Amino acid sequence: MRRPIFETSNQLGRKILERAHTIELAFADATGQPVLRTLHAVIVDDLLCFHCAPVGEKTAMVGRQVVVSAHEPTVTLPSTFFDAQRACPATTYYQSVQLRGTVGAIESHERKARVLQALMEKFQPQGGHLPVDAGDPIYGTVVGALLIGCLALDQMTTKARLGQDLPANRRSQLLEQLWQRGAPGDVQAIESIRRFCATPEPAFLATGLPIKLWCALDSQRADAAAVLLDGTYWNVGISRQQIADAHRNSVAWVGATDGTEALVGSARAISDGAKHAHILDVFVAAPWRGAGLGRRLLELLLDHPRVRNCSRIWLRTRHADGFYRQLGFAPETSRGQTRTMLLDRGHGR
Ligand SMILES: CC(C)(COP(=O)(O)OP(=O)(O)OC[C@H]1O[C@@H](n2cnc3c(N)ncnc32)[C@H](O)[C@@H]1OP(=O)(O)O)[C@@H](O)C(=O)NCCC(=O)NCCS
Repeated sequence: MRRPIFETSNQLGRKILERAHTIELAFADATGQPVLRTLHAVIVDDLLCFHCAPVGEKTAMVGRQVVVSAHEPTVTLPSTFFDAQRACPATTYYQSVQLRGTVGAIESHERKARVLQALMEKFQPQGGHLPVDAGDPIYGTVVGALLIGCLALDQMTTKARLGQDLPANRRSQLLEQLWQRGAPGDVQAIESIRRFCATPEPAFLATGLPIKLWCALDSQRADAAAVLLDGTYWNVGISRQQIADAHRNSVAWVGATDGTEALVGSARAISDGAKHAHILDVFVAAPWRGAGLGRRLLELLLDHPRVRNCSRIWLRTRHADGFYRQLGFAPETSRGQTRTMLLDRGHGR
């Protein structure tokens, strides 16, 4: 690798291969012509496995040296983030993996069936079919007929370019630039960079508390949010699954974790990004209330790129009017014990 600073752990490379919707596989055929194929692949028994018809070009790769590649783009950074005039600093942050080796063929019908079942679980996680089992007469013929190619994972090179070449303070400034730009994917890129390399908190994520603020939570945190919110008066009768799905599907979802990485605060918004937004599921865990965390979460959410340009932002509350008034919300209408509050930013309706 030209710049070793970008080489990273093969554990990450393995994850990229596991997550990849498709992989690219290249080899030279019997006549020396280069061939490039796009395949679905899964990792089974520490081998990268893919299926193909028993005749044809893909079959010809068995016994040949191949190179496989998969990548995950994180964010494209404009030159102007780094230099007012020169185009040269424009760059893309990404994670990628390359795997080399000789393609083998899996012969055992039982192992072939396991690879096919793993492919089904990856691409049809909802199931709905009989498990692929070589002993089942409905699958026996097809399992026998398909060729399952495989590649060992030992010659792997994993690369991550996520700002690790920048001084920590410059990286922190880059997070501010991404937050201000707020293009689709920028908030997720901020969190990818922070997860990858320790970075001083930029001002928009500072709390002054032993708490870490997140401007985008990944979907794995949705179950934790559901646990946090389960039992709140506005979620009575709503299942944890629904609460978790609501968080996964929200265009803006911010949160806070304590020193043990446990989720202790969360707030989300649904929004059209221009006119209207609704704030929902604002919650701070009891031990952290009264320390200013709720206000920081709301400030972060109101400044979120999908919310900051909205003219009118609504929410509903029973007991926390005073909290929201301090953030500029005013009561609109009441229904029973619940009050609708509006933050009217006044730039068009
Ligand atoms: C409401 C809630 C999110 C506030 O979070 P928090 O971290 O305790 O709030 P903060 O410490 O940031 O408080 C900021 C300010 O709002 C005030 N405030 C907080 N909760 C308030 C409430 N329920 N009513 C009136 N004022 C409130 C605080 O006194 C503080 O004012 P100050 O700066 O003058 O001292 C939190 O108490 C909570 O999760 N409650 C249970 C769930 C809930 O009711 N969520 C809101 C549903 S709409």
